This record gives sequence, structure tokens and C-alpha cells, in this order.
Amino acid sequence: MSTSEHDRLLIIDFGSQVTQLIARRLRELSVYCEIHPFNMVTDAFLRDFAPKAVIFSGGPSSVFAEGAPMPPKSVFDLGVPILGICYGQQVMMHCLGGKVERGHGTAEFGRAYVTPEARRLALLEGWFAADREQVWMSHGDHVSEIAPGFDVYGTSPNAPFAITADIDRNFYAVQFHPEVHHTPNGAKLYENFVRLAGFKGDWTMGAYREEAIQRIRDQVGDGKVICALSGGVDSSVAAVLIHEAIGEQLTCVYVDHGLMRKDESEQVVGMFREHYNLPLIHADESDLFLGKLEGVSDPETKRKIIGGLFIDVFERHAKEMGGADFLAQGTLYPDVIESVSFSGGPSVTIKSHHNVGGLPERMNMQLVEPLRELFKDEVRALGRELGLPPSFIGRHPFPGPGLAIRCPGEITREKLDILREADAVYIDQIRKHGLYDDIWQAFVAILPVRTVGVMGDYRTYDYACALRAVTSVDGMTADYFPFSHEFLGETATRIINEVPGINRVTYDITSKPPGTIEWE
Ligand code: XMP
Repeated sequence: MSTSEHDRLLIIDFGSQVTQLIARRLRELSVYCEIHPFNMVTDAFLRDFAPKAVIFSGGPSSVFAEGAPMPPKSVFDLGVPILGICYGQQVMMHCLGGKVERGHGTAEFGRAYVTPEARRLALLEGWFAADREQVWMSHGDHVSEIAPGFDVYGTSPNAPFAITADIDRNFYAVQFHPEVHHTPNGAKLYENFVRLAGFKGDWTMGAYREEAIQRIRDQVGDGKVICALSGGVDSSVAAVLIHEAIGEQLTCVYVDHGLMRKDESEQVVGMFREHYNLPLIHADESDLFLGKLEGVSDPETKRKIIGGLFIDVFERHAKEMGGADFLAQGTLYPDVIESVSFSGGPSVTIKSHHNVGGLPERMNMQLVEPLRELFKDEVRALGRELGLPPSFIGRHPFPGPGLAIRCPGEITREKLDILREADAVYIDQIRKHGLYDDIWQAFVAILPVRTVGVMGDYRTYDYACALRAVTSVDGMTADYFPFSHEFLGETATRIINEVPGINRVTYDITSKPPGTIEWE
């Protein structure tokens, strides 16, 4: 079965910041869904996509604005359930004969409470166990008159039409955002909606694995595929999946830039060679990378050097093995959405991320991207399905430029060695205290400062380091992790005692924003 044979739900995106969360909630319910910007959804598209249900996302626009985002009228004639959220509600009312008003004095942002009306609504099963539900509102305009056929099922002080529905046509429209966690019972609403729409919940990783394997075989035929294996979860899952599909037609290249953590290269290469019997070139290029980085301290220059060298080295090894027809990449669904989003104009480059962009054109290769439809947690589930060890799947993210961006200032082999040891002790501490899985990412940065200390009867003059640990959902925002003072004290003592070269330990409590997770 291909994804097109699953029951499909279409999310029409009107530009909300949280549209992706709608997709997350649905995927958690084993429902296959896709997000498409409103201006791509034409009548022909709708016919082709053949959704079993449709959701209109929220969005920043006003239905009064010139060229306001609208769905195609034919969506209302498909005969399938529709759920409109926030702007999605306003647009639905506007299209179906209701009224929307500008929000003079009735704009609502943040927490609000909805109370039920006497009439019952299947969409709200499991709601109102207490006599009100907390929801998250974020709207300027509001609906002032509902469309013919609709009734009201819930109200809030500033939104008399907080929950509305036309039960004959299965159209539902809510003013709040059920997808955010500030609407604690929001997932239940989506669960009810897909049940009402008759979804079977057949989007499982077991099924996906079989389909993906077949699609890779169809795409690749008897061609050759290469994959840059970094040891990260995405590229690893992609490689194992492709290997399962086409065996020896896949070759992986692991580029060791000399900026990996302690024992990391051996572990990654060992695992793939021994457990998966996967053809793997271990390219030890540390001299090349560290040579070119000598004397460089500007963060962007470091990133550019590493990114450029990575592509050169990868290309050289690919040519040595006789070239390839396809390049495998662990692109995820959020990257795909980002690149098609109508609202995603050019944004400021905070840091240039490291990838193999540009290579496919340069080497005339097509892309194989078997994870394009998945979110990160789905990739992890697929990894488990493929038998990757849980400890590997749960690993914290590690940036492409590696330790280079955890070593502010000039990079030297000496500093990298010290950093590796300190990082290993820190991670060991975190694991021993059972905290690893509560943390999004934890690492040590070695600082370009030496400080004076005293050990026994001796004066020391060694490096200071900073510990970093953050919680995050997607790496876009982050909070520092609230370690106990005991943990921090014990860790500092261990690092100073066990790692020659460091005599001072600090803990970085900057959130993102305004900081970033990495130091460079
Ligand atoms: P920042 O430091 O921008 O990091 O807050 C956000 C997340 O991205 C990771 N990161 C990278 N990942 N290539 C990657 O593959 C990169 O160049 C890169 N730079 C940062 C970082 O570790 C964090 O998880």
C-alpha cells in the first residue's frame, strides 16, 4: 500500500505558526495527513488528493484584507468533514454566509475558558468533565454571525461562537487552537474529529517501512546510491532503510573530520559494519580539516570551511567508488514544509547549517529521501522498527560541524582532546543520574580563557569550560536544564579531577532566544 492508499487528511495552511502541530496531533492518532499552503490547493489538487477530511489551519490574515487567503469553494462540496481553526473558522463562516467582524476591543490572546451549551456534540466527547475547558485563543477578528445550518456548542467571554458546528454537513469550526498544549484537552478534539470522519488509524511505522522499501526499489531500480552517514539519527535510519531495500547497491561514506566526540567514530563505524553489514567507507580526513581550520577563530568562517571541505571530500570518495546515480538524504517533513511554505520568505541567516547542498547538481545525481514524510519522533519510531538500538535512537542531536563550534576561538588538537574528555565525564554524570532522556541536548564547550587555580600545593593555569544542557521540542527555542546544585557541584569536581587541562567549570543558564544552543 502506498501513502496514497491510506485514508488521507488534508490540512490547508493559512499561515499559522502552529500548523505543524496539527499534523503532529494527527500523526499521533495514526492518521496520514499532509499540509499544503492554501494557494496550492486548487480544484484539481483536491480531486487528486481525495481527502477523507479537511482541516483549515489558523493564520495571521484578516478575511477583510485584499487578497485574503481563501480555500477553493469546491472544498465545501466534497462531502467530507471539515474542521476550521481560528482563521480557519472565520474563513469558513465568510464562505458559507456568516459574518466576521474586525476585533475592536474583542481581540483575545492567550488562555481563555470555554463553557458548553446544553446541546450535545460528538466532536466534544470527553470534554467538559469539569464545567469548563481551558483553551488557547489568538485572534484579532471574530465571527459575529454564524453561517446558516450552524449551531453554537461552546462560548467564551470574548468568543460567543467559540465552538460551532453544522452537524448535517459535518462542518466544525472553533475559534481557539486545539493543537497547542495550552489547550490541554485539544488532542481529544482531534481524536473525535478523525473518528467522526471514519479514519481507520492505519498509519503505523510497520506499514510505512514496507511501503517505503517498495518505493525506494521502484525509484532506484538497479542504480547506485551513496549516503553521507553522520551517525545522527536521521541519516542512520535513512541508511538502514535503504540498505534493507536495495542491499549492496547502497554505499555509505562516513567523513571523520576530527571533530567528533570521544570514541564516536569507532562506535558509529563499528555498529554499521558489524550489525548491519553495510558497505561503508570510513574516510579519516581529520588532518585535512584540522589543517584548514588552523588559526581560524571566526564562527562563520569555521562553518564555511567545514561545509566546503565536507562536500569536496564526499565527492572525492564518491568518484573513487565509481560514482553513483542517487544521493540519499535524511530530509524530514518539517524541512519540506519549510521550503514550500508561502509565508516562509527569506529569513536572516543566524548560522549557516552544514549539509551536502549543491552536491546533487554538481555530480548529476537524483535524491532519495525516504524520510520526507516523517516528523522526528516518527523517524525514531521507524528506527526502532528497523531494530536500531534504543540507546542510539535516543542520542542527543550533534551538529554537523561537530566540536568546532564548541571550541570558541582557535581550534587546536590539544583543546579538542581536553574537550572530548570533559564532555565524556559530563555525559557519564548525566547518564548515571538518569537524566539523559529528560534533556534535549547536553555538551561541554571549552572556553578560550585560562584561569588560575590551586590543586594541592600547586598553582594551576588551565582552561575554563562551560556545561550546557537544554530542554527543547524542536531546537528552535530552548530552556536551560534545572540541574540540582549537588549534581553541578559533583560534576565540576569530577571534571577538574579527571580532566587535565581544565581547572574551572561554569554552567550556562542562557535560554534560546536570546542565546543559541551551541556556542557558535
Ligand atoms: P543553535 O545553536 O542554532 O542550534 O541553537 C539548534 C540545533 O541545531 C544544531 N545545529 C546544527 N545541526 N548542522 C547540524 O546538523 C549544523 O551546522 C548545526 N548547527 C547547529 C544544534 O546542535 C542544535 O541541536
